Amino acid sequence: MRQTSPEPLNQLEPVDLLKTAVEIARRAADTARRMRAEAVSSAIDTKSTATDVVTAADRAVERQVAEELRTLRPGDALLGEEYGSTASSTSAVRWIVDPIDGTVNYLYGLPQYAVSLAAEVDGVVVAGVVRNAATGDEWTATLGGGAFHDGRPIRGSAQTELAQTLVGTGFGYDAARRLHQAGVLSGLLPHVRDIRRWGAASLDLCFAAEGLIDAYYEKGLNPWDHAAGGLIAREAGLTVEGLNGAEPGLPMLIAAPPALFGPLHDHLVALNASGGA
Ligand code: IPD
Ligand code: CA
Repeated sequence: MRQTSPEPLNQLEPVDLLKTAVEIARRAADTARRMRAEAVSSAIDTKSTATDVVTAADRAVERQVAEELRTLRPGDALLGEEYGSTASSTSAVRWIVDPIDGTVNYLYGLPQYAVSLAAEVDGVVVAGVVRNAATGDEWTATLGGGAFHDGRPIRGSAQTELAQTLVGTGFGYDAARRLHQAGVLSGLLPHVRDIRRWGAASLDLCFAAEGLIDAYYEKGLNPWDHAAGGLIAREAGLTVEGLNGAEPGLPMLIAAPPALFGPLHDHLVALNASGGA
């Protein structure tokens, strides 16, 4: 009897999942960039209208990603920032998408906004891509296969001294949470070289992955903010964890080279960084 090759749906190899992720993320990034260019060229200049445009782009990009996944990988599950989750009883694969990470930058035209797309198999992230939609820079990783920026292998910082460490972070949108985060920041600042805040968690993780900053931490991140970037940072040699051995997630995510992770972690614990709103 003639042997048939497995359907693409059954392919669970990280490299195959990454290939699909990259194809989809590139088209999604094109849509995000185009929608912004069209909004700007039609001279929408008030904040409320521009905010609506951002919302429309977020949703349009996520719908496009979902449709393409339905075509290329029918049956897989999906978790997205805008439309929540679609479960699957037939596939071990779940995709996690932030259609536009860095929405405030998108609103202002700052070239730091990205499409973030990751693939999990049985709950473990095995492939991820973060594409800066404004610049076309693209970071990728597969589990055990290393991390890359536009195809070039990347490694995190070799810094070992917390006092010399350039630390990225971010803030939530809730005022009470920000108040607590500001307190943590003022407690940490005297112990590090300096702080950077770019406004897109997925890109912050990629910057840490290639040593443009030494380390990164943030409270309040959702899976779509860190699924792809977290894998990229880990594959670039960073430790990516929460506090006290927890998985990275809502209470805290720290991404740091192994030598810096402990000192940064201990300062954040002492400052009750996962506390507050
Ligand atoms: C936000 C950005 C920001 C981070 C926030 C995120 P969004 O995502 O990643 O840098 O500080 O915690 O919510 O709203 O731009 O997709
Ligand atoms: Ca977003």
